[in-house]
Amino acid sequence: MRVTVVGLGAVGLVTAACLAADGHEVVGLEADPGRLDALRRGEVPFHEPGLDALVTSALSDRRLVLTDTAEGGVAQARLVILAVGTHGPDGSWQSASMVQCLLEVVPRLADDAALVIRSTLPPDFAVGIAARVAGLRRAVGRSLVPVLLNPEFTREGSAVRDFQRPSRIVIGVAHDPSGAGVAALKRLYAHTDAPIRIVGAMDACLGKLAANLFLATRISFANELAGVCEEYGGDIEAVVDTMAPDPRIGGYFLRAGLGFGGSCLPSQVQMMSRAVREHGLSTPLLDAVTQINTGRIDHFVDRLTAFLEDLAGKRICLLGLAFKPGTDDLRDAPSLNLARRLIAAGATVVAYDPMPRARQGAANLVPGLLIAETAAEALTGADAVGLVTEWPEFAALDWEGVIASMRRAIVVDGRNALDVGRLIEAGYAYAGFGRAGSTGTLQDAPRDEGRRVGSPAEPVLTLALGRAE
Ligand code: UDX
Repeated sequence: MRVTVVGLGAVGLVTAACLAADGHEVVGLEADPGRLDALRRGEVPFHEPGLDALVTSALSDRRLVLTDTAEGGVAQARLVILAVGTHGPDGSWQSASMVQCLLEVVPRLADDAALVIRSTLPPDFAVGIAARVAGLRRAVGRSLVPVLLNPEFTREGSAVRDFQRPSRIVIGVAHDPSGAGVAALKRLYAHTDAPIRIVGAMDACLGKLAANLFLATRISFANELAGVCEEYGGDIEAVVDTMAPDPRIGGYFLRAGLGFGGSCLPSQVQMMSRAVREHGLSTPLLDAVTQINTGRIDHFVDRLTAFLEDLAGKRICLLGLAFKPGTDDLRDAPSLNLARRLIAAGATVVAYDPMPRARQGAANLVPGLLIAETAAEALTGADAVGLVTEWPEFAALDWEGVIASMRRAIVVDGRNALDVGRLIEAGYAYAGFGRAGSTGTLQDAPRDEGRRVGSPAEPVLTLALGRAE
């Protein structure tokens, strides 16, 4: 099928490359000249496992053709998929890009084409989408076309796999009286036997947002529960493990720690609260989800302060900058605010992330942040290390070996991803979040007052055990 994808960001490029790999003839329309040039050179401007190979192969056999003009890319397509950004830089909705895109694309659609919106739409924009498109068609004397919402549920870091093996396909029908649009879109998803839900446009819009809001709620729940675990000497992972077999609950998205970041969860929870408030409704649950999440950085800083007493003059190593492993995305990454907080408290902060773009981006975004080129370099001379992103290489680090290079052997594990027993055995003081065995946070941790915490060569801190909060 001839398909045009408009907007080649994280969502659009994955869509375009995967559809090309499925044998469709895809035109990718991208307005940003820098991004387009990079793609023409075969460079994917962000890290997404498996995507480079798909893009390179699709470009080389011309199943994916790139263009920067709607004139060149829209009229021949049977389906035109819009994947332009709808999030503003300040964590608010922005519809200017979508409005501009509709203005350029809709008048040029073939009469037998269908318009598919894959971007996450603000509900207040989605409500009028069919009328808006119809108005643009009528203004140029063209017949109406089907208008469908087809939200994506792909996660960064596994977006290719999520596209190829989706959990479900959601098709929201804004206008499709003959059903031709839905039929064409279903053909596009012939590669998967995932359940298809054909619903109204607003249900698709809200269903997409609700999925992310629910995931965020689960994470904030887990983080609140982690505090309860600490109070009573429970272990969050063991507690979640007792819940997970219940099919009504499951074990996903209940990992406690530094909380959720990224381009979707934090901003969509807040945007939804704000949007709904303008309609006179309140969202106490979502407000609490955000409040708990933003408070995670305070908890992290409290853990460090409990170990170090005063952060001023201390050298703190942060392992990980991207908002999660498998990506170099720094949007709403907890690392950034955490680094800013520590620097403001007078600490020297040295960070390392395996992704060069994340290192470079963080250096640009956080004044005073020092960037190391390896984890070992970041750890050298550190008074404490904070694990921010649970890249597998950090769990696999030679913790027993690097301890000698640190000034003090203190670990605050913001993702509960490290082996507590191993670290304590190696001589580290360890604090996770709601994790049994943490030495500096659990009221009922084995008492060992007077234990000197630090590298065997240079014991420097006497740790007062007990609660950090
Ligand atoms: C999310 C949705 O999962 C995806 O369906 C949607 O299409 C886009 O938004 P993404 O932003 O890529 O995907 O990241 P996700 O895997 O959801 O993680 C979001 C954040 O939550 C990360 O910072 C992660 O570290 C954090 N997280 C996740 C937790 O803190 N605990 C968990 O248990 C799971």
